[in-house]
Amino acid sequence: MRAFPFFTLLLLSAVAAMAQPVRQVRTDLGVPMQPDEKIQWMRDARIGMFIHWGLYAGPARGEWVMRNEGIAVDDYRRLAYAESDDTYFDARDYDPKAWMQLARDMGARYVNLTAQHHDGYCLFESHYPTAFTSKQTHNRDFVREYVEAARAAGLRVGLYKTLINWRHPGYYDVRGTGCARNTFGYVTAAWHREDARQMKEELYCQTRELCTHYGPIDQIFWDGGWLAEQGSDADASFFWEPGLRTDLQNEWPVNPLFAMTDSITGHQLGLMGMVRRLQPDAVVNPRSGWCGDYTCEEGGAEVKGPIRQGVVEKCMTLTRAWGYTPDAEDAAQVRRLADIQRICADCMVRDMCFLINVGPDRHGHIPDAVQQRLRDFGRWAQTHAPAIYGTRGGPWQPVDGQYGFTHSGSRLYVYFLGGYTESAFTLPALGRGIKARRAALLATGERVSFSQKGQTLTLRGLKLPAGEVTIVAVELNRGL
Ligand code: GLC
Repeated sequence: MRAFPFFTLLLLSAVAAMAQPVRQVRTDLGVPMQPDEKIQWMRDARIGMFIHWGLYAGPARGEWVMRNEGIAVDDYRRLAYAESDDTYFDARDYDPKAWMQLARDMGARYVNLTAQHHDGYCLFESHYPTAFTSKQTHNRDFVREYVEAARAAGLRVGLYKTLINWRHPGYYDVRGTGCARNTFGYVTAAWHREDARQMKEELYCQTRELCTHYGPIDQIFWDGGWLAEQGSDADASFFWEPGLRTDLQNEWPVNPLFAMTDSITGHQLGLMGMVRRLQPDAVVNPRSGWCGDYTCEEGGAEVKGPIRQGVVEKCMTLTRAWGYTPDAEDAAQVRRLADIQRICADCMVRDMCFLINVGPDRHGHIPDAVQQRLRDFGRWAQTHAPAIYGTRGGPWQPVDGQYGFTHSGSRLYVYFLGGYTESAFTLPALGRGIKARRAALLATGERVSFSQKGQTLTLRGLKLPAGEVTIVAVELNRGL
């Protein structure tokens, strides 16, 4: 075997180190993922605001309160009425314009609201016979008001929609032959099979409503694909039929009245078949059991490892739960600013989006302590905007806790993540013919001195505070 000449090897390894992972566009269950150009806005927007709001804001013990405490459907629905006193979801301060102002102030370029969470309560009007909606209880379509406010604020509009619905005992017993363990006290009953079918039909009906009544929707965040809270989302596709079409033989058929039929082939469309037909530009996550145009990393854990492949969105909340909890009123219990900045930086250098959650209270007010934290974060994001929006993570792999990179055109941004405190930093080889022209701290514009020898660039005289993110902008003679 002929050995590769040394220089070829050197070149190959440099190319490998810089290669941006390629997003694979594949087809799953008959539905192709969106092409790169349709998901580009998310890559550019980078930061979003997630909003968990619903009846659960009343008891204020998180969005899972109904299931965690096994609250019966009829008791739970009282939360939508004044008889519930201080747990009444009165929505009296609901002002989506104020939410959108906060979204803008915190540096978000897109928003996503829980149109419906697992408790089944819809923040929109639905005509499904067993639906439970804000139109019935408050004579308002909160989703409509939200969508209008988001558009007026120039934000991309997302909707969160769960597949499951705790109002249906059939969720735990889709065949009516073996009820899974649950906190509601449901036990196996033959009628659960029909109830599960209705739960699925309700989902189809409401997905169609959400995709038809509010103009273009930019993002759909499915959740809760698993059945009886067990297994994976994909495991449950036999039931939900999230792909292009439904199967005539399926045991839980959706009445054509509530679904959609392809007029050419005569096939009934599956969940994603419907979404693509009605919202051809929407980008969608994978939690329906279909593979997703982008993927999710959920929760407050640190973001580590290599640059992600494809479009990946990290979502996290700043308090104990996603839905409102009283700890959100106490600044000391809200996620620290330095943490949020760090997680944001960790996302940016890995080419990810960052979706930060708020849980408005039962009146519709976002707790002041959360607002303040997000506005502080927004000032930081604004100061570092060139290193965030419209950039790509990389081109070199980050080192956890130490450093990472983003770049855009002829600008390279070196993110120091708080664990690197040396006064000099040598970058990976820049590539042939690339020269640094200037380097400065992004926050202040203060010059950073450097030296370059061939492809080796070293920043010098750095004063990097431990535990804080510092970003240095490097102007190059051309793009990387
Ligand atoms: C988790 C929570 C759910 C929340 C979601 C947000 O799945 O259980 O309540 O809506 O995260 O991504």
